[in-house]
Amino acid sequence: MTRRRVSTTGAATGSGAAPARARTGSAAAPARARRAAASGSARRSSNGAVRRVTPAQLMAEAEIARKRAYAPYSKFRVGAALLTRSGQIIHGCNVENASLGLSICAERNAVWKAVSEGIGDFVAIAVAAEKGHDASPCGGCRQVLQEFAPDIVVYWIDHTDKMVRTRLGELLARPFQLVRSQK
Ligand code: THU
Repeated sequence: MTRRRVSTTGAATGSGAAPARARTGSAAAPARARRAAASGSARRSSNGAVRRVTPAQLMAEAEIARKRAYAPYSKFRVGAALLTRSGQIIHGCNVENASLGLSICAERNAVWKAVSEGIGDFVAIAVAAEKGHDASPCGGCRQVLQEFAPDIVVYWIDHTDKMVRTRLGELLARPFQLVRSQK
């Protein structure tokens, strides 16, 4: 696996592996899972234990998703890995269509897959795209992430191949909101 430095931007300073500071402490969550989520990302292993997912590991998952991208028109392949507080990882890739406007981005694909399966409580997303680009999520994907996870941490790769850690709030400062909150 390629080792990358993680840089943070704006107010999201601190460890590169701390995507789940907000909204921890749910009474239902086991203490161990809560600790793992607070100190980084958590993933449930086959024996049910929660283990930490580093930003590099989450990005590696996004790279796996990217391999499944269907991008014959743009040739720009993107993968996303969406991490839930309980440790699930949902992959998404961009899927293009001959009617170009029907194409879907990797990030949105991951969110819609997850929501369709009743999965929520997203704490982090990693985005992997072609090298040499500043591949942060597009505006539409930011708005979709905002709908379900306004505090989510977003990892993406800049044009120098460095992993960047941002909070969604930095990427989408003043989101459109039709209702205040449905939670
Ligand atoms: N794309 C994504 O998958 N995510 C983004 O955040 C930006 C763009 C995809 C859409 C299209 O298939 C290709 O990249 C070129 O824009």
